[in-house]
Formats: sequence, C-alpha cells, structure tokens
Amino acid sequence: MAPIKIGEDRFVVMLPENRIQERIKELGEQLTRDYAGRTPVFIGILNGSFLFMSDLVKNYQGDCEIDFLKLSSYGDEKISSGKVRMLKELNCEVNHRDLIIVEDIVDSGLSIKFMEELIAQHTPASMKVVSLLMKPNSLKYDVKIDYIGFNIPDKFVIGYGLDYQQKFRNLRDIYALEQDIAVDSVTLD
Ligand code: IMP
Ligand code: MG
Repeated sequence: MAPIKIGEDRFVVMLPENRIQERIKELGEQLTRDYAGRTPVFIGILNGSFLFMSDLVKNYQGDCEIDFLKLSSYGDEKISSGKVRMLKELNCEVNHRDLIIVEDIVDSGLSIKFMEELIAQHTPASMKVVSLLMKPNSLKYDVKIDYIGFNIPDKFVIGYGLDYQQKFRNLRDIYALEQDIAVDSVTLD
C-alpha cells in the first residue's frame, strides 16, 4: 500500500485491511454469543463508525436493529475541541432495549461520556460500548469500553472511517504518520 502524502506528512499503514476484518469477525462472534436470544440495537456514532458498523453487523449472527446518531467533537482539526455537539438525534426507541454503542475510536472518552449521559435520560435494558480503536494513554474521562478492537498508541490515525479534514474515510486500511508508528506497538486487546 503506497504511503499517503498530506502536505509534508507521510502516512503509512498501521493496521491493514485483513487484520481489521479478522478482528471485527472475532468481535461479531463474541457479540453473537453475548447477546444470544436477544435483539440488540446497534447505535453507530457518525461519521467515523459507518464502515465499522457495517462490517460489525455483517458479522453478528442473529436478529438486531440499527440506528445512528451524529456527534461532532473535533471540528476539522487534529486535536479535540473539548466540546461535543449532537448533529443528528437518535430515532429509535431506547427504553427497555439492549443498546450497543458503536464507535470508531475512543480518544479522550468525551464522546462516550456524552453518550452515557444521553442514554442515562432513558431506561434501556442495557448499554455496552464497542470501539474499533482505543488510545488508552489519551483517556481523560472515566468511561468503560466493553469491547475493544485494537489498543493503539496515542497518535493521529486516518482511514476506515477516520478522517483528516473529512477526507480519507474511504481507505480500507488504517494509516498513521510514518514517524509516529512502530508497527509492533499495536497490541491486540
Ligand atoms: P473522544 O471524544 O476524545 O474520545 O474522541 C472521539 C472522536 O474523535 C472519534 O469518534 C473520532 O471521530 C475522533 N478522533 C479521535 N482520534 C482520532 C484520530 O486519531 N483520527 C481521526 N479521528 C479521531
Ligand atoms: Mg467518531
């Protein structure tokens, strides 16, 4: 896979497509076991989770429903603005349902904290969080992520849903800045 150049920056593959897909298959199988006999609602946080959500539900063997809401915390920058805005509300009934929040990446944890507070205004049967990526060293809020695809270093990544200035979401692999990554520092959780 050719590096991606953004100005002077070179991004190289940190997680290739096959590794992402293998892990999502495992997560799907785990959720299938954990939610056997129930009909969970997968709630994707837009925009970043759209590809992960799609691949995750394809690997979930059982009845489920899906919905999306749209949050914005980053604006168009590489660092978080510290504020979360809701740009599209949830449309599903959350009361008495088993909710699975689907996130692309947990960085400070602010978005998930916002989701917890939002859902706490209702009475779901249960709520769990699945995130493809997690930057454990960046966490600033006390949030519990129940299912994690990969723990990654505290570095900016793009691809597979994750953007830089709204671009690069369509890449099949996940890239990081060349100088930022040592490939084997990416650990499986
Ligand atoms: P948090 O609210 O600080 O946990 O940040 C979560 C959101 O910020 C994610 O859903 C992403 O949309 C975005 N984000 C965090 N880290 C990155 C990154 O490395 N690349 C692209 N987007 C990111
Ligand atoms: Mg996101």
